[in-house]
Amino acid sequence: MRVRKVNHHTSEEGSYLEQRVGGAVFRKGYRANLNQPDVTLRLILTEKCVCGSVIASIDRKAFHARAPHKKPFFYPGVLMPITARALVNLAGVNKDTRLLDPFCGTGGILVEAAMLGSEVIGLEARNEIIQGAKLNLEYFGGGYNLLQGDACKLPLKNSCIDSVITDPPYGRSAMIKAESIRHLYEESFAEMYRVLKPASKAVIVSEMEINRIALDVGFTILKQYSQKIHRSLTRNITILQKNNQ
Ligand SMILES: C[S@@+](CC[C@H](N)C(=O)[O-])C[C@H]1O[C@@H](n2cnc3c(N)ncnc32)[C@H](O)[C@@H]1O
Repeated sequence: MRVRKVNHHTSEEGSYLEQRVGGAVFRKGYRANLNQPDVTLRLILTEKCVCGSVIASIDRKAFHARAPHKKPFFYPGVLMPITARALVNLAGVNKDTRLLDPFCGTGGILVEAAMLGSEVIGLEARNEIIQGAKLNLEYFGGGYNLLQGDACKLPLKNSCIDSVITDPPYGRSAMIKAESIRHLYEESFAEMYRVLKPASKAVIVSEMEINRIALDVGFTILKQYSQKIHRSLTRNITILQKNNQ
């Protein structure tokens, strides 16, 4: 039995809970081999308590090996690969998905999706950064298409994309290629909506309020998560869906 506490929803010590729950399992007649367990039970304590047996686990070392500064091309302020993979999972990407990241930067999201065999398309305004994304995607293998351009004028047909995942610039002006951040979001969201197939999803990382912009271009907001990065920075992850026509 292993306990994992997420976001401090309980003040109980993990080891105490492991003993208590392990004891309850023992009293049911199950015998434990702590050195070579056949089954590991996991108790996850968040707003709810979830208990189950571990059937697969993530190789976290592989994520460390893909840390941004270990990639052939590095640029500060990019997502960690574990976050990029979580976004890919939230979008339900698989090998049949044609995925677009219209603000692809150094390609962090695209690398994670390409590793699952999906067809990835990245667009980025800056030539030096798109060249870096190419180095990163080459290094980790998988097919890719990269375009230098403007996310507000995507060179793609209507309704040809299965999934959009993106991490647009957040107001640090050096990264913005547009009249204003507001214009950038309004126009790029309209373009994402246009190129997505009906009922397809967009997963957006943002530090600013995007709900009004998303609703105005026609998206439905399916879910929103927030991730506290530090005291003055909270990152939102929003799952949007295009309508069905
Ligand atoms: C927050 S970064 C994305 C980081 C990316 N997830 C990565 O792994 O590197 C946002 C990117 O959007 C690019 N950008 C800014 N304005 C743009 C525009 N109008 N069209 C396309 N890309 C743009 C910036 O150059 C920057 O690389």
